[in-house]
Amino acid sequence: MHFISPELEDYIEQHSENEPALLAALNKETYQKILLPRMLSGHFQGRVLSMLSKLIRPINILEIGTYTGYSALCLCEGMQDNGQLHTIDIKEELVDFQRKHFDKSPWGAQIVQHLGEAIDIIPSLDLKFDLVFIDADKENYGNYFELILPKMNKGGIILSDNVLWSGKVLEPLQPNDLSTKVLLEYNRLLKNDPRVETVLLPIRDGLTVSRVL
Ligand SMILES: C[S@@+](CC[C@H](N)C(=O)[O-])C[C@H]1O[C@@H](n2cnc3c(N)ncnc32)[C@H](O)[C@@H]1O
Repeated sequence: MHFISPELEDYIEQHSENEPALLAALNKETYQKILLPRMLSGHFQGRVLSMLSKLIRPINILEIGTYTGYSALCLCEGMQDNGQLHTIDIKEELVDFQRKHFDKSPWGAQIVQHLGEAIDIIPSLDLKFDLVFIDADKENYGNYFELILPKMNKGGIILSDNVLWSGKVLEPLQPNDLSTKVLLEYNRLLKNDPRVETVLLPIRDGLTVSRVL
């Protein structure tokens, strides 16, 4: 769903940073070879992720939902030299594709891929994070948030993607629509939780920025 007109979207993209060549190639190859390419963050949201990461200057970053690695590489742009990005995905068939593109970037050696259910992998990570990007199964957003919070440094940022869910957050809730139900609860939780300070940005499908207090 487009929350703003395609013409304005074009204008915004044209007046934001260009997509780096490595990411443009990854974007193109994802559309050529991988199922559901619309899942990739893309040019504009990618530049937003890159800018946020450059402002935060994180040491350790966690990403839930690697897909083909586009957003991981955007988040790496602001990572400190001694930092690592840990990224989790459940799809084994994506691992080699991700690695090929990670190794073409300056951050290949700093990116750690984890294969499996995020809910199982997050508790095994013995690290403190400055920046987290939640972008996998919506049903578990609340669970991911609770697992991540004790692993965040004070002042760290949790980004949550697709929180407007194509506008479904405003529509009457269908009884079998678990994703929308969970996202409605999640958005309420972030707004009311005294452990974080939150703004919901109308970027693409909705991107929430939560700062850990
Ligand atoms: C929207 S895509 C991620 C897009 C990527 N962050 C980007 O912006 O380019 C969601 C990914 O989450 C993965 N995923 C779904 N359920 C998962 C789970 N339970 N644990 C780990 N990864 C999961 C999917 O395989 C998919 O690759």
